[in-house]
Amino acid sequence: MGQKIDNSSPHGCAMSSCVAMFAGILFLVCVVGVGVTVYFATIEIVDCGCPDDRVVDKMVGDKKSEDDKKGKDTILVSTHWLSTKIYEASRTGDATIRVVEVSMGAPGDEELFYEGHIPNAVYTTVKSCANATALFPVDLPDPECFGEHIRSLGISEDTHVVVYDRLDIRPSSREWWILKLHGHKGVSILDGGLAKWISDGYETSNKNLTTLTTDYSLTFVPAKIRHMDAMMYNMKTRAEQIADARNGEVYNGSISDRGLKKGHIPGAKNIPLSYLFEDDRTFKSPEDLRKLAESRGLDLERPVVTMCRTGMQASVLSVALHLTGIGNVPVYYGSWSQWSQLVDDEYIAIGSS
Ligand SMILES: *[C@@H]1O[C@H](CO)[C@@H](O)[C@H](O)[C@H]1NC(C)=O
Ligand SMILES: *[C@@H]1O[C@H](CO)[C@@H](O)[C@H](O)[C@H]1NC(C)=O
Ligand SMILES: *[C@@H]1O[C@H](CO)[C@@H](O)[C@H](O)[C@H]1NC(C)=O
Repeated sequence: MGQKIDNSSPHGCAMSSCVAMFAGILFLVCVVGVGVTVYFATIEIVDCGCPDDRVVDKMVGDKKSEDDKKGKDTILVSTHWLSTKIYEASRTGDATIRVVEVSMGAPGDEELFYEGHIPNAVYTTVKSCANATALFPVDLPDPECFGEHIRSLGISEDTHVVVYDRLDIRPSSREWWILKLHGHKGVSILDGGLAKWISDGYETSNKNLTTLTTDYSLTFVPAKIRHMDAMMYNMKTRAEQIADARNGEVYNGSISDRGLKKGHIPGAKNIPLSYLFEDDRTFKSPEDLRKLAESRGLDLERPVVTMCRTGMQASVLSVALHLTGIGNVPVYYGSWSQWSQLVDDEYIAIGSS
């Protein structure tokens, strides 16, 4: 190799024209590269009706990475992975993947969904089949109603459900947890949600998907949830560590959230929700999440339960802790709403620990 370089001088170009040529080629490669990227990022994924094999192969082949091998056990999927799967499914009629938009169930949310959603997505809310109460502002769904709802979305035992939201990953994380709690195995979250899907250049659609109702029956998994008695036990024995996802001022009792008593469960560690994300609202890497959790006082060799005010942020923290690979991280679903309204003051701590 050294030899070739040494021999090149008599017939080689002068240094400056070499550099110019190299720069020219680089420029061309860049322009073509950007063009191809923009083209493939903006093609209509589902509604084209005229699938072109070369396009699909290109989409799958371009970024062949571990991303493409993600299976039903994967917690997070990328926009690229999902776009590829939706495109493949539209060609083959395969219904293994069910994309579900999850909203908070606020007025207008459903209209937003119908105006434009990820192609072939169906719609649900974190309030489907659940009635809010003072103790449980976002209650668990009624099992019978929820089972019927899931069947009506065309979900069966083998379905890989991909949840996303257009808010801040709370609704999709909550639905991820609720589905796991009801024994559904294949659930992933679209990392970065609809905002990332759009900023990555993928299309939305206003077409409505018709689903075939399945006969799937869900099985509740008690290990995924903690009730108040278990939390009282945890507080007294520290058998399971408690991680509280509310923001620092709410946790330490300098302010009250929605008029509830100030403070936190004695011994609970605080990992505010905002610490879990990159700027584009994708989750931090497992390594960074692990460092974060440890820096906030958690021992990741020991079990952890998450909480917040209503169980929504706690679901996101549970997702983040699962990403570190520590295994099952149940959610205290009554969270601060229930705790603060039922316990004596001796079971409420103020301050930074
Ligand atoms: C919610 O309220 C409605 C209307 O009062 C009732 O029919 C339904 O059973 C309730 N669902 C739950 C989960 O409590
Ligand atoms: C989809 O369904 C919703 C609710 O039924 C309806 O309002 C909307 O017009 C439908 N959209 C299309 C494109 O058919
Ligand atoms: C709570 O945290 C805030 C912000 O970090 C701080 O300003 C305040 O002094 C803390 N309050 C208590 C009671 O620790």
